[in-house]
This record gives sequence, structure tokens and C-alpha cells, in this order.
Amino acid sequence: MNAGPPLWLLAELTYRCPLHCAFCYNPVDFARHEDELSTEDWLRILREARALGAVQCGFSGGEPLVRDDLETLVAEASRLGYYTNLLTSGVGLTAERARALRAAGLDHVQLSFQDSTQEVNDFLSHTRTFDLKNRVAGLIKAQGWPMVMNVVLHRLNIGHVDRIVEMAQALGAEYLELANTQYYSWALHNREQLMPTSQQLRDAEAVVDALRERLAGRMRIFFVAPDYHEGRPKRCVNGWGSTFLTVTPDGLALPCHTARMLPGLAFPNLRETSVQHAWQDSDGFNRFRGTAWMKEPCRSCDQREEDLGGCRCQAFQLAGDAAAADPVCAKSPDHAVVQAALAIAERGEPPARPLVFRSPANSRRLDAPGAAG
Ligand code: FES
Repeated sequence: MNAGPPLWLLAELTYRCPLHCAFCYNPVDFARHEDELSTEDWLRILREARALGAVQCGFSGGEPLVRDDLETLVAEASRLGYYTNLLTSGVGLTAERARALRAAGLDHVQLSFQDSTQEVNDFLSHTRTFDLKNRVAGLIKAQGWPMVMNVVLHRLNIGHVDRIVEMAQALGAEYLELANTQYYSWALHNREQLMPTSQQLRDAEAVVDALRERLAGRMRIFFVAPDYHEGRPKRCVNGWGSTFLTVTPDGLALPCHTARMLPGLAFPNLRETSVQHAWQDSDGFNRFRGTAWMKEPCRSCDQREEDLGGCRCQAFQLAGDAAAADPVCAKSPDHAVVQAALAIAERGEPPARPLVFRSPANSRRLDAPGAAG
């Protein structure tokens, strides 16, 4: 099938991160992949992806500010005509670097918070970063960037959405993304501790709807619903190999940021091949493009063009088969797995084990042969 351009390039510059979020989407085995691309590799990838039609470039990680060539990469992306954004925890953004990134042409910054309270923010990130993030929000405003604030929601903070919105307003955010946890990687490992009840979710949505109306024209609030509770799969990454190109810190080209976990798929490394070859010709990108790969019940489903069978990574994680229907779909033969996870959340009992925070030591421990978590 013919591939259009990869409109959105996500450059994951590093897996290094000063935070230890328990819902991080970086692979659980990230500690194995420490060999980062060089500045020259990234400059070539930026040029090749732009030549192929990419228009937006997100710099993310880990924490992209730990790379001291970030300004160089932003400057090149900007010169090439990308709309550039930085997805950051804020750690490492000094006034000097903010000025340099502005001068390099950075178009906008997405700043993540873990909660509206210092206590929960610092607990969830396992670091004392709340005050620092507040200072960084001031630096972002001082440079005149539109500020997108991002907060991942889950059972431990979803009851605070009103205060989160208040905080975003006080810090001058133009956009607030309230993204319910998607259960991949570290979040899947911690699902029992993080999944909200249906009632928590309904309450949060009602609060957000009311605030959205009240703040219309001042702040736009996006509420990303969790697919487990909806019974409907999401059109993940807008369709496999249709829009998004993620490049991992060690150079793998992926259709989404978690696809490296999928077995039996050969994803090319951009140290060895061009962006064009990876995007257009590789097995990894072509395997789930379009709808021809689908099995039942997706193949004959009248929603197949809408949701494209849902998320391939979730299908693998929950059904053990990346070509299966996404088990969050009520029509999936594996939907009982999702219902069982929801039933645990609905009981609202204290989880049987503590959260596992993202860290190199925990990554190595969970990646060890026979590790059960
Ligand atoms: Fe990989 Fe959905 S996260 S396809």
C-alpha cells in the first residue's frame, strides 16, 4: 500500500530522565538501549524526514534537555521549516537555555506536571520537582511561547482535576491536556495501582466539562478518555504508518513510541538505513498499514475504517498477538482481560503491591530473565 508522508516526527533524543514516573511510556527495558544517536545522525534524520514531507517535529525523551545538542537540533529543524515543540518535565530548563532555544526557533513547549499538589507531584515522579516546574512555567511565559501543560490522570490524582485546572490557569497555560493513563510499559506494570474507577472518571469528566465552559476563550482543555472504560478501541497513532514516525534514542524507526516491544517485526535502524526506506519499504511499517492485515472480528466490522482495529501494542500486550483486535473493543474475543482489570479497579481496594517507579535499576530488574515484577 502507498504510504503518504510521515507528517509528525517524534525525536526521542534520550531515555535518560531525572524523573521516575510510574506511568512512563518508555520501554520497561530502556536500560538496555543506552547507545544514543550522535548529533550528526539526528541532523541527517531531520533533513531526510523533512524531505519526505514531515512538517512537525517533537523533541522528547526521557528528558530531551539532558542532551546538550538540543539547541543545535532545534535550530536545524527550524531552518528546515518544521513546526517544533519540546516535550519536557522542565528539569534542565534554565533562563539561559530558554533564551537559546527561543533564538534557535523553538515554536512551543509542552510542560508536564504530575499533579496540582507538591506532595502527589513529587511522589509520582519520585523527585522533588514541583517548585522547579512552577519556575519553569514562568520561563516559558517569559519567552512568549504558547504553553501546553500536560497532566497524566489516574486513580491517585483524578480527583484533583479542578485544582489542576486552577493551577494551569494561575501559571498562564493556554492549553491543558488532561490525558488519562494509557496502559503500556511502566503504566501497564502499575495498572492495578493507577486505574481509576468508572465513578471517578465520570466525576472528573463532569468537572472538566463545567470548567471548559467557564474558561472558554481563555484556556482550551483537552480530556483524553481512557479506552479501557469506553469499550471502544482508539485509532492509535492515527493509523499505523500513516502519520507518525518515532525515532528512538538508539535509532530505531517506529510507527509508535512503544512498538519496539512487538516480536517478529523488523524495525529498521536509521544508523543503517534512510528514513525513506524505513518509512516506505520496511516490513515493520508495512505490516499493519491499512486494513488488509486484519483478522476477524475486525475484518468484517463496519467500524474497521474508523478505528483500524485499535492499538497493535495493546493487542500484543493483552492478547499476545499484535494482529488481533484490540481487546478494549467489546467485540474482541479477549475483551474479558480488560473487564477483569476494570473489575479490580471498581472494587477500589488498596493495591496488593506498591508502585514500581521508572529507574535504570528497576528497568534492569524487570528485564532480568524470569522477573515477575
Ligand atoms: Fe503502538 Fe498503539 S501504542 S500501535
